[in-house]
Amino acid sequence: MFITFEGIEGTGKSTQIALLKEHMLAQGKRVMVTLEPGGSRIGAELRRVLLSLDNRDLTPQAELFLYLADRAQHVAQVVRPALETGAVVLCDRFADSTVAYQGFGRGMDPELLHRLNEVAVDGLWPELTVLLDLDPVIGLKRAVARNHSEGKTNAEGRFEAESLAFHNRVRQGFLKLAAAKPERISIVDATGTPEDIARKVKALVEARLHA
Ligand code: TMP
Repeated sequence: MFITFEGIEGTGKSTQIALLKEHMLAQGKRVMVTLEPGGSRIGAELRRVLLSLDNRDLTPQAELFLYLADRAQHVAQVVRPALETGAVVLCDRFADSTVAYQGFGRGMDPELLHRLNEVAVDGLWPELTVLLDLDPVIGLKRAVARNHSEGKTNAEGRFEAESLAFHNRVRQGFLKLAAAKPERISIVDATGTPEDIARKVKALVEARLHA
């Protein structure tokens, strides 16, 4: 089973992925946790290029193709092989992030981005996407504090440095995607405690497993 987590910065995706992993391991499942950008060996190099504040001059088009390259490599080398062994794959961001950030955030055509995503994912779409929804005022505060405490301000700060208006467009983009694809994308309010949110996520996964 392939499950992706989406949302703006600071929604607690990695916390929720860790909690779901624990839950699924306790059920005897094999679980692989991965992320985009950076889930493959080559992707780790692309992640550094994509997120460094030193690369403020990256053009929107070049940024798009680096995300797509990361995804194509990740799907072929990491996600598909893991699914073929029967593992559950939990992925921090996937194709919807491209439509939300490069489409709604940067202003590129969402339809075109969907077609380019089709090339990158090569038929492999998640069975469930959990969209953690949060006001960017709260999310950005959390993300900036986290980067600061991890000493990553310069290495990973390129998107945190975008305006609140940008992150609001991204949030609305995710919500539009969820409205367009309710059979795959489920919205979870990310304002509660991690445990409350985890309970909702588990319920969604159980419902999907027994659908
Ligand atoms: P994160 O893994 O720390 O959330 O950082 C990844 C950043 O990359 C985040 O700001 C969102 C951005 N992003 C895109 O703009 N497009 C994409 O396709 C993906 C996967 C991420």
